[in-house]
Parts: sequence; structure tokens; C-alpha cells
Amino acid sequence: ISNKISDDFSTYEKLLSTQFSYLTPENAAKWGPVHPHEDTWNFGPLDKIVDFAEQHGMEVKGHALIWFMQLPQNDYLENLSDQEFSEAVKNHIFTLMGRYKGRIQAWDVVNEAIVVNGAHEADYGVSLRDNIFLQKMGEDYIEQVYRWAHQADPKAKLIYNDFGNEGLGEKSDQVYKLIAHLKSRKQPVAIHEVGMQMHLDASSYANPADIVANMRRLEDLGVTVNISELDVQLKNLSGSQAQKLAKQKQVYFDIVSTCVHEPACTAVTFWGFTDRHSWIDSWMGPDDPLLFDEDILPKPAYYGVRNAFLQ
Ligand code: G3I
Repeated sequence: ISNKISDDFSTYEKLLSTQFSYLTPENAAKWGPVHPHEDTWNFGPLDKIVDFAEQHGMEVKGHALIWFMQLPQNDYLENLSDQEFSEAVKNHIFTLMGRYKGRIQAWDVVNEAIVVNGAHEADYGVSLRDNIFLQKMGEDYIEQVYRWAHQADPKAKLIYNDFGNEGLGEKSDQVYKLIAHLKSRKQPVAIHEVGMQMHLDASSYANPADIVANMRRLEDLGVTVNISELDVQLKNLSGSQAQKLAKQKQVYFDIVSTCVHEPACTAVTFWGFTDRHSWIDSWMGPDDPLLFDEDILPKPAYYGVRNAFLQ
């Protein structure tokens, strides 16, 4: 890594392609951005990402087929009958997965469907978020969309992704129940992995021993796990900036180590890699959550991650 300050795109591309091997689009594959209207598809940005990955020998994880946010900004989906809505969901999955078959190796099929004390307690004991998919397709929508996803690309790894589900607690209990339910259907559902987003705050985050215990119980159900959207906020820490960066390094080391040591954990992906471009600043206030700083130079956090992988 060069120590020269540089903010040009080639530096960004170079780091992305040399420091990472698994790429996931932050927004380009979400329903609203990629499929803004019934017959309108906007594949350009996603094509670029997949092409980039292929040129550099990286694998790609699609994010996310079924999510309650970033849906089309018009109400075409709301206006469909229940039957038409199901058809539209099936078509969305088949068209998107079909286009990138063999090029996108894994998909977050359902994202953030569970809420502790959510609006709807399903018969299978899981507390579901009230969203348009639940309203129009009923509580078996999750099972249904995994079945379609498996048909659309039988070789793709199918993931359930959520936040706050990494340690031991009610949220991860619910995710565990959902996976157990899908696995125990008469005709088992193809679900292969659980993603743990881990948008962490360095001043308070899940105990690594609990994360490992949670990974192991999921493995016992027959799924693997990944850390899917890792970033670590430091603004709530006390001390000097140097102390905060040192603590952030420790958090990155501890968290990535859980994955490195657990055979069930297949990957760590980050929600961006330079503090110059992070969702955190606009959503949670100014912060420095990633591995490289505003000048795209490596931070202590980068070495925390590197040391974890080199163990
Ligand atoms: O690109 C449009 C632009 O055309 C439009 O004019 C402008 C006006 O609102 O919005 C731009 O889109 C924004 C988009 O990011 C791209 O920058 C959206 O408003 C904004 O809502 C969107 O935020 C994304 C957020 O998901 C939406 O919930 C973040 O970038 C993205 O990092 C974040 O990612 C999520 C994961 O998908 C799921 N897990 C949590 C994670 C963080 O919230």
C-alpha cells in the first residue's frame, strides 16, 4: 500500500481489487435501484460491479432480493393484487438472478425480515416485520422466495441477512428459529447461510464469545455464517483520536478473529472500505468507521483486520 496521499479513482480501484476478494454492491442490486418499475430495469451500475469483480478474480454477493427498504419510489407494487404481487416478486427474482447466473455466486435473498416483538408472530414462532411482502403474500413469504431463488439459480448460495443477530439474545434466537423452521419443512428449503451485518459501535458491541457460540449453533442447524456489513463507529468512545483508533483496531481484530477461527464462517465483507465513502456519516453523524481514512490511507483498523487474518 502506497503511503502517498491520493484520492483518485485508480487508487480506490487498486485497493478494492488487491485487498479484497469478495465484492457486494451497497445499493445497485436493491429492488428500487435495479428495477424501478414493472418493465424498467436499470442493470448498468450492477453490470459494472460484476464486470469489475470478474476482471479482478473476485466473487460477488448480491444484496438484496427481498427487503422492505429501497423499494421502487412509485406505488406500482402497492397497487398490485395479492396474486399479481406474488407474480411480480417471482419475476423479480428470476430476472435478476437469471441475468447474473454463474457470475453472482451468493445472494442475500431476504434481508431484515425479523423484528423482536414485531408486528406479526408467525405460526412458526418467529416475530416478523410488518412489510409489503408479509401483507400481500402472508407469513410463508420467506419460504416461498427461497424456493424461487433456488429455482432461479440452483448453484447460488442463498443467505438470510440481518442486523443485531450476531451475539446471543432475542434477535439471534429468532433468526435461529427461522432457519430451523425452513430446514424442517417436509420439502426442505434451500437456505445455506446466515449473514450478520455487524454495524458496530466500538463503545458497546456483542461479546466475541457469544458471537462464536451463536455461529456454532447455526452451524449445528446445517448452515454456514458470514459477517456481511462490518463497520465500527468510534465517535462514542472517550479519549484522544489516537486512543479511539487503537480501540477500533482492537474491535476489528476481535470480531474478524471470530470468523477466522470458526470453520462455519465463510467470509467477512465490509460496508465500504474508506471513511471517504460510508453510509454512517449521513445516517448516524460524522464518524470514521472503516479500514482506510479519508485520504484512502490504511488506519490502525486495517492492521487489526490484517493481523486477524494472518493468525
Ligand atoms: O442515488 C439516489 C439519488 O438518485 C437520489 O436523488 C437521492 C435522494 O434521496 O438518494 C440517492 O439514494 C440514496 C442511496 O443510499 C444512494 O446513496 C438513498 O436516498 C439512501 O436512502 C440510500 O441509503 C442506503 C441505505 O442502505 C438505505 O436504507 C445506504 O447507502 C446503504 O449503505 C444502506 O445499506 C444498508 C443495507 O442495505 C442493509 N443493512 C443496513 C445498511 C445500512 O443502513
